[in-house]
Amino acid sequence: MTKPKIVVLASGEGSLLQALIDQESLLNYQIDLVISDNPQAKALERAAEADIETRLILEKEFSDRASWQQALLETLIDHEPKLIVLAGFMRILPESVVKRFTNQILNSHPSLLPKYRGLAAVAQALAAGDSETGATLHLVDQGVDTGPIVEQVVVRVLPQDTNQELHQRIKLAEQALLPKIVHSLVTHGYQVHDGRVVINH
Ligand code: GAR
Repeated sequence: MTKPKIVVLASGEGSLLQALIDQESLLNYQIDLVISDNPQAKALERAAEADIETRLILEKEFSDRASWQQALLETLIDHEPKLIVLAGFMRILPESVVKRFTNQILNSHPSLLPKYRGLAAVAQALAAGDSETGATLHLVDQGVDTGPIVEQVVVRVLPQDTNQELHQRIKLAEQALLPKIVHSLVTHGYQVHDGRVVINH
């Protein structure tokens, strides 16, 4: 039986992608394509090592922003993913993509949303002196990190934590959670109620 297809977008290290790759044979999803906006992304190497198709879609290689957006949209449409997963994708998706794939794009963000939307979420939690922070998996809407929440995981902030140490522990939590949530969403289906996602059982 074929598994539901997902497309993963990643800009950097790719440890979340690696968690999805490592759990793929045990869970009900198939990573059909990895898209990146960064030629140096380790995520691309990880995908290639796992024999997953990769696509680098660089805005600077297109004549204008609209053509780049169209290329991204067409690539996604061609692959017909059941779910698109943003795993450390550091750009805001074009409105056309979010619209075409309404409630089909999952993002992992390193804070307990609605706290610390956007960039530098880990640094913001540290600077605020919070005793705990964490990660949020949410569906993407037209705002920045504002979409319906699927699941959150709390990570304690330790007294001497550096940004890197804290982010590393948050990533471990994300790596544990993301594959399971992807599996549940594509296997059971889900509804959005009052700004939260309820997975069918
Ligand atoms: C993760 O912590 C993810 O939440 C964050 O980037 C990291 C990716 O790690 N994403 C964002 O900050 C998106 N706004 P990775 O490259 O090792 O998978």
